[in-house]
Amino acid sequence: MTNNELKNRDLNVLWHPCTQMKDHETLPLIPIKKAHGVYLEDFEGNIYIDAISSWWVNMFGHTNKYINDKIKEQLDTLEHVILAGFTHEQVVKLSERLVKLTPQGLEKCFYSDNGSSAVEVALKMSYHAHLNDGKKDKNIFVSLTNSYHGETIGALSVGDVELYKDTYEPLLLKTIQTPVPKDMSKKSAIEASIEFENLCKEKSHEISAIIVEPLIQGAGYMHMYHPHFLVLLRDICNRYNIHLIADEVMVGFGRTGELFACNKAKITPDFIVLSKGLTGGYLPLSVVVTTNDIYAKFYCDYSEHKAFLHSHSYTGNALACSAANATLDIFENDNIIEENRVKAKYMAKKLEKFNTLSNVASTRQTGMVLAIELKGYKSEERIGLKIYQYGLKNGVLLRPLGHIIYFMPPYIITNDEIDKMMDTAYNAIKLLDS
Ligand SMILES: Cc1ncc(COP(=O)(O)O)c(C=O)c1O
Repeated sequence: MTNNELKNRDLNVLWHPCTQMKDHETLPLIPIKKAHGVYLEDFEGNIYIDAISSWWVNMFGHTNKYINDKIKEQLDTLEHVILAGFTHEQVVKLSERLVKLTPQGLEKCFYSDNGSSAVEVALKMSYHAHLNDGKKDKNIFVSLTNSYHGETIGALSVGDVELYKDTYEPLLLKTIQTPVPKDMSKKSAIEASIEFENLCKEKSHEISAIIVEPLIQGAGYMHMYHPHFLVLLRDICNRYNIHLIADEVMVGFGRTGELFACNKAKITPDFIVLSKGLTGGYLPLSVVVTTNDIYAKFYCDYSEHKAFLHSHSYTGNALACSAANATLDIFENDNIIEENRVKAKYMAKKLEKFNTLSNVASTRQTGMVLAIELKGYKSEERIGLKIYQYGLKNGVLLRPLGHIIYFMPPYIITNDEIDKMMDTAYNAIKLLDS
């Protein structure tokens, strides 16, 4: 098999995600033959550092031996079983661990199989919990400007990135966006919280929940804000009987320098939404962890019609749960969060150099996520695409978001690999500068 053979067969039958397929008339598709550690390898032996953890999912490298072995073990025991009326060891073990690891007070796990569907679960549960409480008018969700929560209709409705949302606007739920803090300062956090509180003063009787991406808005161009904003939101939500949904689909499992971003603010949301890194980047799985207080609002005789009758065929899949348990083993056995902090410092030092380039507007970092904002380019120039192509030619998979170049590598990346990843991006940006 060659790269070309597979490319041609692919384009005959596949429609790729988040892609203008016509681009592939000039932009080669990259068939990947195998992967190991931070490296992806194509059919011609070219290797690429996966600087974006394959859409932010990979934690401990591709074909990680420990996770592979655990999935193989599970494969011969139980691959999947319906989770309504039945259960299995992996899902119980995983739920016990998540309850222990997530912020204190989150006690019940509800599974689905991707980030968007878990967002839908949290939104529906929030609305339904209020309804079961006799609050019929709480049917509006609030989210932050520039937010992203996925692509299904409900998740898209609480998102605010035009590129994904505008086309579908007539189909979407009515939601309200309150301003995200404009930068990483505490002052901006306070200003944004005042705006939210003003909204609550007017409409809290209609608001079910506010959903936020804690600390980093991923698809919203890696916009970052101060943890104090979460502290203030928690307090406002408590006072106005509004649920706080923390969508940690991207930031969960150590990306921000803590296992969960909410830990940085020492807050417990009413719902935490997890996916992506949950299985180490191996298999689709997501979970909403919520409080016993929410759970209790659904717990009554069947005839009261208060049950949460939501399901997905693959809810709590045993193979995915075994991958998640293996991922948590690695967090437990190795000093991952500490090591990440050391790597984050190393990357911070290297990031400084980018600020010397005249086409760099600013740089930012939260833990293992770093972003470089370019200036002086029009969107038609597709500057991100140029950086992407340069990266591929030089052995690094960068996937800029418009004019934002970012790094979100697997945690096993070494300093030499960090050098290669960041130097390649630097050279690409510098080349455009000249
Ligand atoms: C914060 C956040 N929420 C939800 C999602 C949706 O997850 P999925 O792509 O698995 O549906 C994403 C995906 O990037 C995300 O970043």
